[in-house]
Amino acid sequence: MKMQGDKNRTIGIFDSGIGGLTVANAVSKILPNEQLIYFGDTAHLPYGDKSKELIQRYALRITDFLLHEKNCKAIVIACNTASAAAYEALRDKYKGVVPVLNVIDPMIEAVIAEESIQKVGIIATKTTITSGVYQEKFTRRKPTLQFAALATPLLASMIEEGFYNNNISRAVLESYLENDSLKDIDALVLACTHYPLIKTEINNFYKGKVKIFDSAEVVAKKLKLILEKEGLASETKSGKDIFYVTDYTQAFEQTTRIFYGTEIYLQQSEIWKEV
Ligand code: DGL
Repeated sequence: MKMQGDKNRTIGIFDSGIGGLTVANAVSKILPNEQLIYFGDTAHLPYGDKSKELIQRYALRITDFLLHEKNCKAIVIACNTASAAAYEALRDKYKGVVPVLNVIDPMIEAVIAEESIQKVGIIATKTTITSGVYQEKFTRRKPTLQFAALATPLLASMIEEGFYNNNISRAVLESYLENDSLKDIDALVLACTHYPLIKTEINNFYKGKVKIFDSAEVVAKKLKLILEKEGLASETKSGKDIFYVTDYTQAFEQTTRIFYGTEIYLQQSEIWKEV
């Protein structure tokens, strides 16, 4: 059964916290006529070291809220960890109801499209890396592609605390990127919401010789294509973007500026109030 309403319905974007604002930011630039509802599950962050089962439970409840209480016309799982753990469950549940996008598949397509890439590296949270989802999808699509995956769990909290473009972030990055497994890569996938903020530093580390892919722009472009194909693209913005978190603190609100560029106002969501 299709959800009710017209093209002016909102787009729901969710993440474990506020890092997914990098995706929301890219979506608002590429699709300026769309009204967004952003949902950051700050009460449960980080997702990056939680089990697949728990993340699936969170993702299903959040999507239920976005669809049934907010009548969204499309859902974007902005979080890599939630995409790795819960995409299939959401896609199957909402098949034929609304398009559900994850940040992984558009990235796989973007990398495969660059035929010259022989070895690709992935950096992400522990849960994304141990899920093996990138490896499985790359191998299925291009069996000859060499692949290296490295969990870089310090990076997300480092960025959230404002450590980027400085000596500390450079030292942490270097110690990860010098890992033997990443030797001879032609491309590096930044498979975490937070990493677009350190893209320049990573580029500097590789002196521009490794092509860097970040999910924010790739997924925003894919969303545009899907909305156009499904006849769901809005012609005028119907209202202001709305930003929910499940645990409001002033610190989160201040950090949003890092990820979104401009100041935003966070609202407390009560979906976990029964817990
Ligand atoms: N949003 C997560 C991701 O993209 C990073 C933060 C977390 O671990 O919750 O993987």
